Amino acid sequence: MTRSPINFSRRYSLVLIPFFAFCFVAKAQLSTDFYKATCPDLFKIVRREVQNAVKSEMRMAASLLRLHFHDCFVNGCDASLLLDGTGSEKDAGPNLNSARGFEVVDRIKSSVESSCSGVVSCADILAIAARDSVLLSGGSLWKVLLGRRDGLVANQTGANRALPAPFEALDSIISKFAAVGLNVNDVVSLSGAHTIGLARCGTFRDRLFNFSGTGAPDITLEQSMLTDLQHLCPLTADGSITAPFDRKSADLFDNHYFQNLINGKGLISSDQILFSSDAAVTTGTKSLVQSYNSNINRFFADFANSMIKMGNISPLTGSAGEIRKNCRAVNA
Ligand code: HEM
Ligand SMILES: *[C@@H]1O[C@H](CO)[C@@H](O)[C@H](O)[C@H]1NC(C)=O
Ligand SMILES: *[C@@H]1O[C@H](CO)[C@@H](O)[C@H](O)[C@H]1NC(C)=O
Repeated sequence: MTRSPINFSRRYSLVLIPFFAFCFVAKAQLSTDFYKATCPDLFKIVRREVQNAVKSEMRMAASLLRLHFHDCFVNGCDASLLLDGTGSEKDAGPNLNSARGFEVVDRIKSSVESSCSGVVSCADILAIAARDSVLLSGGSLWKVLLGRRDGLVANQTGANRALPAPFEALDSIISKFAAVGLNVNDVVSLSGAHTIGLARCGTFRDRLFNFSGTGAPDITLEQSMLTDLQHLCPLTADGSITAPFDRKSADLFDNHYFQNLINGKGLISSDQILFSSDAAVTTGTKSLVQSYNSNINRFFADFANSMIKMGNISPLTGSAGEIRKNCRAVNA
């Protein structure tokens, strides 16, 4: 199945299933109409900029979605990830040569600034851009909560500690989610974000040749995919070559990710263990994978809910933090 990466009308047709009936739990004083008076065109502006970015490179949807995740897990959703300079989160292991889309965020921010200056936080821009990226990729729609303010510090050691690694054990990943108030259900639904985007060979190559020091490939990786990936990512090759998480539809936000796991076609270890590990049975992730595979509506609804929960991680509100002028630096 091939899909034109810029066929938006067709993508929109995939999201007509109604997912508007969520119970919103706005714990953290965030609200959907926060900028209604101060920046009435905000949603239009962000949508237009994300659409432009995704039109020139479909992968950008995945990259923008990931930025919101990597922001929220470190000091809450406060745009700390966007700060440049010594000690930046951009230079932390999980982000270095990996997190991307910062120029697109700059473009969104400057469009927003020219319409309503000094009003909208970079943290909120990340939340809206992530929502729009999912929608433009054919995924579910949710009402994004707003009112976050921008943090004053980056936390590189925090990023190294809080963000999960591709080779991490399931219990440890679940603990990292729990540390920010997310449960096992959130781990599985949010991992479904890996239905779009790419990963570098370096993040999964151990599975192809010498898994966990066994001297052999990961036995949970399906044979034909193993062979393909061994050719794409030989030990001698540059670890920055990329492979799609979902080979069938790398640009489409669907539930193939879960079907792939059931077929042994998860790309990185942290994906496949949601289905194949012993812990997948005891923690319940295996049955969640099965349920999202058989019911895309349930996946879309849970994903939307989990994104709202993730967006609610320790936001700065009221007079805490600031509204940055430039997402890359704190105000003078
Ligand atoms: C459960 C633990 C998770 C682990 C261990 C993990 C790990 C990774 C890794 C290793 C990559 C590839 C990075 C690279 O090649 O440089 C990646 C990419 C990605 N991750 Fe995750 N991730 C996790 C959860 C999430 C969540 C919760 C989201 C969003 C809700 C997400 C969204 C993405 C996206 C969209 C990409 C592709 C980015 C692109 O193509 O630019 N991931 N992740
Ligand atoms: C940095 O992050 C770590 C782990 O998430 C946290 O314990 C620590 O308080 C944070 N430090 C600062 C200065 O925010
Ligand atoms: C596999 O990895 C282990 C541990 O890192 C190492 O000691 C061993 O030599 C490796 N085996 C092969 C065949 O590369």
